[in-house]
Order: sequence, then C-alpha cells, then structure tokens
Amino acid sequence: MPEPANAAQPWWHHAVIYQVYPRSFADGNGDGMGDLPGVTSRLEHLSALGVDAVWLSPFYKSPQADAGYDVEDYREVDGLFGTLDDFDVLLAKAHGLGLKVIVDLVPNHTSDRHEWFQEALRSAPGSAARERYMFRPGKDAVPGSGDGDLPPNDWKSVFGGPAWTRTADADGAPGEWYLHLFAAAQPDLNWHNNEVRAEFEDIMRFWLDRGVDGFRIDVAHGLIKADGLPDWSEAVVAMVQGGMKRRRSSAEKAKAEEPAGPPYFDQDGVHEIYRSWNTLVSAYDGDRVLVAEAWVAPEERLARYIRQDEMQQAFNFGFLMAGWDAGRLATSIRKTLTAVASVGRPSTWVLSNHDAVRHPSRFGLTDPTKFPRGISSREEQPNEALGLARARAAIMVMMALPGSAYIYQGEELGLPEHTALAARYRQDPTFFRTNGLEPGRDGCRVPLPWAKDEASFGFSHGNAGPAAPWLPQPSKFGRYAADQQAGVEHSTLELYRALISERKELGLGDGTLHWSRSYSAKDGILAFETRAPGGRSVLVIANMSEAPVDLPKGYRVLLRSQAAAVSHGRVKANRAVWLVKAE
Ligand code: GLC
Repeated sequence: MPEPANAAQPWWHHAVIYQVYPRSFADGNGDGMGDLPGVTSRLEHLSALGVDAVWLSPFYKSPQADAGYDVEDYREVDGLFGTLDDFDVLLAKAHGLGLKVIVDLVPNHTSDRHEWFQEALRSAPGSAARERYMFRPGKDAVPGSGDGDLPPNDWKSVFGGPAWTRTADADGAPGEWYLHLFAAAQPDLNWHNNEVRAEFEDIMRFWLDRGVDGFRIDVAHGLIKADGLPDWSEAVVAMVQGGMKRRRSSAEKAKAEEPAGPPYFDQDGVHEIYRSWNTLVSAYDGDRVLVAEAWVAPEERLARYIRQDEMQQAFNFGFLMAGWDAGRLATSIRKTLTAVASVGRPSTWVLSNHDAVRHPSRFGLTDPTKFPRGISSREEQPNEALGLARARAAIMVMMALPGSAYIYQGEELGLPEHTALAARYRQDPTFFRTNGLEPGRDGCRVPLPWAKDEASFGFSHGNAGPAAPWLPQPSKFGRYAADQQAGVEHSTLELYRALISERKELGLGDGTLHWSRSYSAKDGILAFETRAPGGRSVLVIANMSEAPVDLPKGYRVLLRSQAAAVSHGRVKANRAVWLVKAE
C-alpha cells in the first residue's frame, strides 16, 4: 500500500482550491444575482468535484462599483448576497463536507461610501480622517503660483484614466486630490497609518473568529507606495492588472532584488505588513492561510511574499499568462519551482480567474499566447473547439504539477468567455474608464449554466424572480451545463473529477517534478514526470505542436484529455495524456 498521500504536509501544500464568484455561481432567491444561499445549495457540486477548498470573491456590503471589490463595510454581507447568518450556514455546510473556506480581503482601498472616506471628505486637509487615505494637494498648489488644478503626479489608474480625483472643500471650492489606483469609487488607504493597520487586523479577527480558513489578499503588492509618490511615465507591459513589471534588460536582471515596476507596486514596505498578519493568523488553530494576489515579476520577487514569516501562497500569474506554448510554460514552471524552493514553500498554479479571459477562449485565438483584456464582438472570435481541446490538455498539465491548484468556477465545464457581450450589459469599470477600448472582464463573469433546459440554465432559483441573470448567458452555454456533463464519460466535468481524484490518490501535489529527456519544449512538447512521496508517479505529455507525437514504450495511459487523444500509439496535436509505468 502506498503511504496515505499528503499526510505530512498542511492542506494548502497540495490543495485544489475552487474560486466561487458569488455574483455568478448560483442565485438562491431568483433575483438574477448569485448569492450565498445559492452557493450553499450547490456545495455538493464542489465536493463531488473533489476540491479541498473554496475561495469566495467579495460578498461584503458594497455599492458594487467594482463588483464588490469596493467595500463599504468589511464586517457586513451585502443585501444582494444575503446576510451574515447565510454566511455562517454556508461555512458550516462547507466544513461539514470537508471543504475549507477562504474569503477575500480588500485592504488596498475601500469604497468611497465607506464611513471613513465620507468622514475624510467632510474633514479638513491635514485632519486625522484624511490621513487614513492618500489625499494630496494638486502639483501646482504652491501659494501664490497655482491653484492646484494639476493632479499630484502622473499615475494612471489600472482601469484606465487618471489615478487621482479632485475633491471639493466644505465651502464648495476645489480642494485636495485623492489617489485611487483603480476606480474613483475605490480610494486607496494609507498603510503608513496605524489606525488603518489596526482596523484590518480587527477585520481579519472578525472573520477568523467566525471560522474562515484564510484570506485571499486583494492587490497585495499595492498597499505601500514609494516615498514622495514619484512620477511614473514609463509604460507598464499591458497585463491584466497593469501590475506586472515591465520587462527587464539583462543589466537590470542582475539586480533582481530591486523593484523595477511602478512606484505604487511591489514596494518593500508591504512585507512588514504581511509579517504581522502571519503572526496574527498563526495564532489561530487549523493551518489557516494567506494568499497573495500580487501581479509581480520576476518569480523571485513574487517568492518574497511567501517567505516563511509572510503568506503561505501567492497566485502564479506568470503561469496563467504563459498561454498555450510549451516553451513559455516550461520556463514558467522551471522558474516558479526554483523561486519557491528558495523560500521553502510550495507553488500555486492557475489558468483562469474573474479578471482574465477564460483560458479555453484565450487558447482558441490565432495567437494562443495572447492575453487580451476582454474580448468583444469586434475582435477576433476564438475557435471554440480548438480552445477547448487545448484547455483540457492544459488542465492535465496543471493538475499534475506539485503544489496547489486554483480553478475558477465554470472551467470544470470547459466554459468559454462570453465574447460578444453587448456594450449595454457591460459593468466592468475598465470598459467605461477606457471609453470601451478595453472590453473588460464581464465576459468571464457570466452566470454559470447548471441545467440545459431550465430558465437561465438553472442559475436562478427561488421566489423573487425569475429575473434575468445580471449578465446574459450566451445560448451555447446550454451545451456546457453541468447536467449535460455529470456522469458523461469524457465530458470536461468528468475529466476534472478524474484528474482531481487521481492527483489526490497518487499524492502528486506533494511530489517533485522531473523533466523528461525524451521530449523537448522546443518541439512543442511539454513532458515531465511528477513523483509523489509514496513512490508513485505520472508522466505527463502535452502535445502543443501541430503534429502527433509518439508515446514512450513501457507505459500505459491513465488519463487522456479527450476520448480520441491517442491513436496508433501517438498523442494527437493539442491533446495530453497522463501515463503510468505498465505493470
Ligand atoms: C483585484 C481583483 C479585481 C479588482 C481589483 C481591485 O485585482 O481581483 O477584480 O478589480 O483587485 O480591487
């Protein structure tokens, strides 16, 4: 008998974690908006999938200027999603099913309706209330020589447009400006302020005391800004959150210890905050976790967020952005494993989330390494079948990698992006702040299809409706509905179930990766073996080339990305297999 897999390591070393985006997972009261009772009613889907934990995107009281990432009250559930009691019911049921629950913490900014920001607006420049945020006079507000009409610096919002908005003084005269790295309704907090620090520690205790298993830290790389808020005129390589560093020259690579990006991201001062949070969270029982959402490069910089006295995990966006490309994926995997080993932590892997175009759609573009900020009907439309074939092969790679794997709701159904969402439905502030230049993230946030023949594909239940889902579902979602796939051999859902179950059974999450010498990423073949602590292993071959590739001798196929992935002893293009030694 192999050793019981994974017994030695805490759960988050090898966990599969499922991201629930509450607006779009399941609607329990029929008002067209997903909610916490909806999530609770569908938790069996997650336990049947075999995941270990759920991460819930924000459900806190919020005016929803950025789909809940603008928090008005960090200790209250928004009426859209239910009540605190509903949260407690969800948590208890999840724990009963053996699922951990991670919640989102949004510390970089509050909503502009947060009582602190309202107080700051009512208070005078220089007051304690303003000190909690980033208020500054205009650049030209020099007595006698200017009236402060120019913003304090040239920073741009990640969502487009300026990162500063001017306020009015009590007498109506134009006053100070405040910083918002995101929408104007999301004023940045001042993390040099002790009241801010104390408040967030208290908020964390509030949720830890309720029993949550950890926090995903939103914009973890943004809390501290460089002293003096220097201008930043260089273009950032266009990435989802604009937060990845610009590419380094080789001279710059030599000094990778220094941040090379914008002065508002990845400043060294953030780490002190995470050290204090580590202490706070570690005082609780049960291996609770802190997960960094930090769009930071290169990998060594990201690894600093998961040093032993900081967070446990960081999202691996380098992997998410590598696209369908053997060379880029191999490089990302190699660099990731080296970087995390240097801090003695496991890695995470992720292909999709609520900020990125769903990977079956990205992989169906002419350039499958492209990373668009949304897709609209005016742009190239992905090849759906090709994208799905590649997505299924990519998940075979991801589920075999050592570390923890994050999946985004709906990817287990192979769900594509909504790539033709009409402008009138768009809600992402990115769309508005770029005057429609960037379609934004709504296309990956469309409500899930559960049942093909029901209204809203089974998304909405309950008495308030039936209202239309908050974003319209494309008709093709019916084909992807969970009820069309459950129990159906070779469906995407059954592939995910099989991969998660084998991964767990074999203990791959705690394994070590060994590159195959028989295949080369240069030829478009990603091939590696993951050896689990119990002595079992799988050889993964993902064919990212355009031609079939021979299987090695002496192995049998354990899992395949599609029913017909293998023919005549060869793995077809855009397909992948898990192999084990033939007995
Ligand atoms: C994070 C969230 C994103 C949000 C932004 C501002 O990147 O994932 O959805 O818009 O932070 O809070």
